[in-house]
Amino acid sequence: MDMPAEGASGHTEAAGRLPEEQETYEGLSVPAGMVCDVAEREVLIRARGLTKVFGQFRAVDGIDFELTRGEVFGFLGPNGAGKSSTMRMIGCVSPPSGGELRIFGLDPVNDGPSIRARLGAVPQEDTLDVELTVRENLLIYGRYFGLRRDVIKERTARLLDFVQLAERADDQVEPLSGGMKRRLTIARSLISEPEILLLDEPTTGLDPQARHVVWDRLYRLKQQGVTLVLTTHYMDEAEQLCDRLVVMDRGKIAAEGSPRELIAAHSTPEVLELRFRIDEQEQAVEKLADLPDVRIEVLADRILVYTADGDAALADVGRCGLEPLTSLIRRSSLEDVFLRLTGRRLED
Ligand SMILES: Nc1ncnc2c1ncn2[C@@H]1O[C@H](COP(=O)(O)OP(=O)(O)O)[C@@H](O)[C@H]1O
Ligand SMILES: [Mg+2]
Repeated sequence: MDMPAEGASGHTEAAGRLPEEQETYEGLSVPAGMVCDVAEREVLIRARGLTKVFGQFRAVDGIDFELTRGEVFGFLGPNGAGKSSTMRMIGCVSPPSGGELRIFGLDPVNDGPSIRARLGAVPQEDTLDVELTVRENLLIYGRYFGLRRDVIKERTARLLDFVQLAERADDQVEPLSGGMKRRLTIARSLISEPEILLLDEPTTGLDPQARHVVWDRLYRLKQQGVTLVLTTHYMDEAEQLCDRLVVMDRGKIAAEGSPRELIAAHSTPEVLELRFRIDEQEQAVEKLADLPDVRIEVLADRILVYTADGDAALADVGRCGLEPLTSLIRRSSLEDVFLRLTGRRLED
């Protein structure tokens, strides 16, 4: 019988604190608007129990996530995790089988066209018209969005500059390199000046140099305030680009956070990588398992020793009489997080 009274008084107290807090902000001379901006993250996409079923198979199995304006959000997971299925639901080209999905507060099934008008999409497979020129691909895409010709012309020039394809504007798409085609697809997705850009595996199949050029352009978009959602199975890509990411595996989200938070929560600061002669590996595993304050993972070609202090662990390895062929101390990465959460490697 005391409960209602306690609840009521708690409510009054909370309400009573508000003016005091505002005074404090004034005291710090922080403009009221700024305080609001920090407090009210604008949620652009909200998913609850989002599911995609193909026959009996649950490709996306009840996932929850939120995307906030201005951030770079990633889905990191191996092939078959359900990343593209999720992106296609966000892009309003594949209806959810269950759960809730809101994009700009709208429902993708009923409001698909209004949502798509505010999204840019870079699908996993390039869908460029290879018989047209670079410039024509952008012109035609701009027409889909009903943009005026002079607007398209101005944006095309600016976007081809941005993706460093201005010199190829009048060349056919067919002979372009994979990296150039990817950059052209990114330029094409930007023609409507979308609020959210969806990128499904933006650098898969590209060589390291071409990947870095794409990363650089995506980083610039982020700095210009474009909200990015990307999928990748490259842990270095997720680490480089994402403010926040979810680790996805077999249709489910295994963990969520910034790269740094995920590493802190699911791995150790350092990893000692050891290789042994094949006939010594088994004995090494037994001895390493007895070391204090470490966790080990046995891979096909090496043993990973998870530890706060790689040097100390290496000294312990020597003390127990083991002589590795090679040893390497490195910092933990998202690959280690994935291994810990799923028992498998990401890039196999
Ligand atoms: N149209 C479809 N019909 C049947 N199965 C599908 C279809 N699309 C995807 N899948 C299956 O769903 C799973 C997740 O696929 P996908 O979302 O493409 O994963 P990812 O993009 O992470 O590699 C895979 O096992 C895939 O074979
Ligand atoms: Mg995919």
